[in-house]
Amino acid sequence: MNDAAAGIVVRNVSKTFRRAKETTGVQALHAVSLDIKPNTFVSLVGPSGCGKTTLLRMLNGLIHPDEGEILVGGVPPVPGPHMGFVFQSFRLMPWRTIRDNVSFTVELSGMDAKERADRADKYLDMVGLRRFADAFPNELSGGMKQRAALARALIAEPRYLLMDEPFASLDAQTREFMQIELMKIWQHHKSIVVFVTHSVDEAVVLSDQIVLLRPRPGEVAEVLDVDLPHPRWDYDVRERHEFVTMRRHLWERIKDMVAADPQSEFYMRGAKTEPIRGAEE
Ligand SMILES: Nc1ncnc2c1ncn2[C@@H]1O[C@H](COP(=O)(O)OP(=O)(O)OP(=O)(O)O)[C@@H](O)[C@H]1O
Ligand SMILES: [Mg+2]
Repeated sequence: MNDAAAGIVVRNVSKTFRRAKETTGVQALHAVSLDIKPNTFVSLVGPSGCGKTTLLRMLNGLIHPDEGEILVGGVPPVPGPHMGFVFQSFRLMPWRTIRDNVSFTVELSGMDAKERADRADKYLDMVGLRRFADAFPNELSGGMKQRAALARALIAEPRYLLMDEPFASLDAQTREFMQIELMKIWQHHKSIVVFVTHSVDEAVVLSDQIVLLRPRPGEVAEVLDVDLPHPRWDYDVRERHEFVTMRRHLWERIKDMVAADPQSEFYMRGAKTEPIRGAEE
């Protein structure tokens, strides 16, 4: 498969949510275009409500654009085993063991029970949870549950891994360990990862590319390439000059967006407005 056929293309996509009989509604995304190459780790960042989750759900084929086009691997997206989705909440089934939660993703594919269990154990091994294969979700800590959710998304060996704030509910220490874990897995099992996060720090540490969205309506404000060398768990990436500069730049822009948004609880009257796309820098 060539690059264009295996990548993700988002062309001029707009989406408005409307209640029945309502004419106006909320415009979640406006004229968003992205071109994601294979083997790329992309993060979506931006203030709350800028359409990150909406875009991710469209990439997964759960909702459809009103205008524009999305192609995943050359075709309009449909949910399936080639797409892994990791949510902010773990969504594990409390009545199933961790192994059975993980193997659930491939259960419908007709894989026999022994192979399913072996595969589940392989991915549980990868996320460091093999010992807990027979445990139930309520016996695991938050970080362990999130690892199980990651194993569940990886078991079908998806070509596209979509993650919506997967580490948001973890404590700071567990979160950093999970970032390293994810980097290692990604290095080993290259695919496209689209990762939504509120943490600018996390986006710079993990990504090859960062897409900054601005809210109301959600638009692409900037796409940044992160030129820090891999593997990034081998050295303290946060001490690098490029890291500090990029982090500061993104954070300044997000702060300006929030301060200029009258619907934001941090709105500041008279705050400088965001520069018009294309006119900045
Ligand atoms: N199902 C829906 N029905 C109506 N409005 C929606 C729906 N889903 C999202 N929206 C609206 O679309 C906009 C974008 O929402 P979305 O959840 O994509 O933002 P987000 O960037 O993921 O925000 P957050 O960072 O808070 O998770 C918001 O204004 C939201 O209220
Ligand atoms: Mg969201």
